[in-house]
Amino acid sequence: MSFVLGIPKKFKYIKVNSLDEALELLKDGSKVLAGGQSLLPLLKLRILNVDTLIDIKNLDLRGVKENEKEIEIYSLTTHNEVASKVKLLSKAAFTIADFQVRNKGTIGGSLAHADPSSNYYPALLTLDAKVKVKSKKGEREIKVSDLYLSPYTTSIREDEIITSIIIPKKKELNFTYEVYKRGGSAYPTAIVAVAIEGNKYKVSFGGITEKPTLFEGEVEGESTIKNVIERLRKEKIISDIHADSSTRLKIAERLFVNAFLKALKGVSDKLDIPNIENKWKSDMIRGEETVTVRMKVNDFEVEDEVEPRTLLLDFLRRNGYKEVKRGCDEGKCGACTVIINGKSVKSCLTLAVEVAGSDIRTVKGLSDIKPIKDSFLENFAMQCGYCTHGFLMVTYDYLKRVGKKDDELLKYSIKNICRCTGYFNIIKAIKSSSLSQ
Ligand SMILES: Cc1cc2nc3c(=O)[nH]c(=O)nc-3n(C[C@H](O)[C@H](O)[C@H](O)COP(=O)(O)OP(=O)(O)OC[C@H]3O[C@@H](n4cnc5c(N)ncnc54)[C@H](O)[C@@H]3O)c2cc1C
Ligand code: FES
Ligand code: FES
Repeated sequence: MSFVLGIPKKFKYIKVNSLDEALELLKDGSKVLAGGQSLLPLLKLRILNVDTLIDIKNLDLRGVKENEKEIEIYSLTTHNEVASKVKLLSKAAFTIADFQVRNKGTIGGSLAHADPSSNYYPALLTLDAKVKVKSKKGEREIKVSDLYLSPYTTSIREDEIITSIIIPKKKELNFTYEVYKRGGSAYPTAIVAVAIEGNKYKVSFGGITEKPTLFEGEVEGESTIKNVIERLRKEKIISDIHADSSTRLKIAERLFVNAFLKALKGVSDKLDIPNIENKWKSDMIRGEETVTVRMKVNDFEVEDEVEPRTLLLDFLRRNGYKEVKRGCDEGKCGACTVIINGKSVKSCLTLAVEVAGSDIRTVKGLSDIKPIKDSFLENFAMQCGYCTHGFLMVTYDYLKRVGKKDDELLKYSIKNICRCTGYFNIIKAIKSSSLSQ
């Protein structure tokens, strides 16, 4: 049996332009592709194989609608968009991975993927959220507390698609969110969300048990802390190569005490992020063996005959754009970052067919990137030929669309991995760059 690491098994690819078409196609052996930030790693590692990939990114399921009763977030809204449009979820969304993953990954995809360390579950559990799902048979609502069954398994049926997430509005809510992550764009080791409404509290822990927990009760001052910790200690805590169970528990307890005391004092955790739009439109394409893909790269029209499983990274490199590097090949290092229609995205976690018809820029195609390059040179932040390309690309996007040279926001955004040096000079270079929004 032949096996090529990093390249998915062959599949049929269909980009749909209506939800009905997607629902019609959803059957055994097929899967929907949203941001691809969890599905593509699984397909590349061949942990999962599909017959048909139904790309739903062109559907009109983006954005946020709000009235006096609730906030409705459409399922294809990206993490960066959620962070900038839904204040309550700003910290949960903006602490996911890094700027590039947040430009493509979606809230619906994250809930459907159901990772035990997903950033959204603890927040949405304490906020009494529910999801709307649709199938050919009709629409139904599922409480987030009934959605996650076990790691990577949800109560969504195979013929259903999440269309939106609904958060009821509460009058006097103190909501805090704490997360502990290792370096780079790693998943959290522990998460805690606390919601206090009047004398009622809800606390949820993520990343430390196989299923995000939810504890609730009446606030009895600081003795509630003791009570919640006692309940937490009865749970089976995850132990893995990143942290054994006692370390995880200690981290979670520390996060919880901070989060709970802040919520008691009436402080709410919110990040102030300017409006980030991530509109996504690409050419309608479908095919099985090979397909013709056209895109504009650094102002040149590039056309190539590729298999649907061809990564954008390979499409670019085989057409001569060797400045785009293959590093980790699993979405972590950022060496392969390019700008797609104005957004930094990892080309090792993007199929060429997904972005047919788009405008792609590599570091050689950005006429206005000079102030960043100059600042990197002046601050000794230029590093090797692998990581530098990615660092420049994500910095360019971050400065253009967020602009704030704020330590906390930069910490959650510039997370490309360089194993040789630190981030000190890179952050200094970003802060002193004259490029702004
Ligand atoms: C390096 C890296 C670090 C990461 N770190 C974090 C982190 O710290 N915290 C965190 O929470 N996440 C993290 N993620 C995961 C990221 O948040 C993904 O974006 C998310 O889990 C999946 O969303 P997606 O839109 O990319 O979905 P996809 O990858 O496209 O799909 C994931 C699954 O959901 C299904 N699906 C997608 N959309 C729908 C829908 N609307 N209805 C029904 N099923 C659907 C797909 O069929 C697939 O099974 C990380 C990812 C990477 C690559
Ligand atoms: S993130 Fe794409 S090669 Fe490392
Ligand atoms: S990976 Fe480039 S200097 Fe470390």
